[in-house]
Amino acid sequence: MTLRALGLMSGTSLDGVDVALIETDGERVAAFGPVGYRRYAEDERALLRRALADAAGLSDRAARPGVLADAEALVTKAHAEAVEDFLAAHRVGRRDIAVVGFHGQTVLHRPERRLTVQIGDGYGLARRIGVPVVFDLRAADVAAGGQGAPLVPVFHRALVATLDRPHPVAVLNIGGVANVTYVGDAGELIACDTGPGNALIDDFMAARSGAAWDRDGVAAAQGRADEQWIAAALAHPFFAAPPPKSLDRNAFAGLDASALSVADGAATLTALTAAAVAAVVPRLPRPPRSWIVAGGGARNPTLMRMLAERLAPAAVETGQAVGWASDAVEAQAFAFLAVRALKRLPITFPATTGAPRPMTGGATARP
Ligand SMILES: Nc1ncnc2c1ncn2[C@@H]1O[C@H](COP(=O)(O)OP(=O)(O)O)[C@@H](O)[C@H]1O
Ligand SMILES: [Mg+2]
Repeated sequence: MTLRALGLMSGTSLDGVDVALIETDGERVAAFGPVGYRRYAEDERALLRRALADAAGLSDRAARPGVLADAEALVTKAHAEAVEDFLAAHRVGRRDIAVVGFHGQTVLHRPERRLTVQIGDGYGLARRIGVPVVFDLRAADVAAGGQGAPLVPVFHRALVATLDRPHPVAVLNIGGVANVTYVGDAGELIACDTGPGNALIDDFMAARSGAAWDRDGVAAAQGRADEQWIAAALAHPFFAAPPPKSLDRNAFAGLDASALSVADGAATLTALTAAAVAAVVPRLPRPPRSWIVAGGGARNPTLMRMLAERLAPAAVETGQAVGWASDAVEAQAFAFLAVRALKRLPITFPATTGAPRPMTGGATARP
């Protein structure tokens, strides 16, 4: 049975909430609906940044010390507003939506300690919007010893099936952290985080120029990448490990680019993101022949150029260029995953998260 599902994603970039409507049976996408976005205001983003700091010492995933309780209320409210604005803008009634997939906001991700924390109240959201909400989709996987990330591969495979591209196809999502899904000839999946995505670039730009990010990669395009600095960064043990593997947003926050100029620092951190993606290729069964890049990083032309250089001779295209709603792919994925969770279909697999077996997940809140 095909269901109409709404997906909500707020990623580690802390930029805002992406919204997307799809129709799906949990295997294929029958129709792509509209997408939407609810940006975080500066003060909201500042609260979320403080929440990341206050979450760093958590050992109980239900605890909400410091500003975490306030941040959780903000996340729930921002998502409710995102849904309400979206439904009004597209004249969709809440009764027309079967389920909402709610990722929440990750504030801590430590799978090696079987701990992943997404704030956001699924029950509160379901009550306010009047639609069943599937949430906490990473928890079961992590509790079973999986990485709990990435969750999007099973959706990426459904997207790749709609395209005519030579396999293997790799779908690269560049959010705060970047992750890749490898789709082989027979649809076999391998996935992992590749390393930093936009988060280091954003943090560097915020500290050095006051801008929230390097818009259109302009600063990076004016600088020179410091290859020695990149080689040293790539010596981090994360890069030597085979997939599956995942990262906390702040795993590389200790890397210090402060000695570099704004332009050279932006160029170097952008090149590090590209180099980290290229470093995964030898760990895949075969080099992908086509790369499709989604997420906010696909909007950075300097990053796209560096990826094309480091992944040659493979073709590197943006999701936008192949007809996807590039910025909303993750939101679409959470709609898809919610339907799979309702049907108790697996959402994670040994080769995508290191789960001991294909596993379903998520909790359901009914209004
Ligand atoms: N025009 C642009 N130029 C450069 N970077 C951009 C642009 N638009 C978005 N980004 C980057 O994309 C990020 C948001 O990407 P997103 O896919 O929403 O990540 P996340 O899933 O972590 O929230 C921003 O923080 C910024 O780094
Ligand atoms: Mg985002």
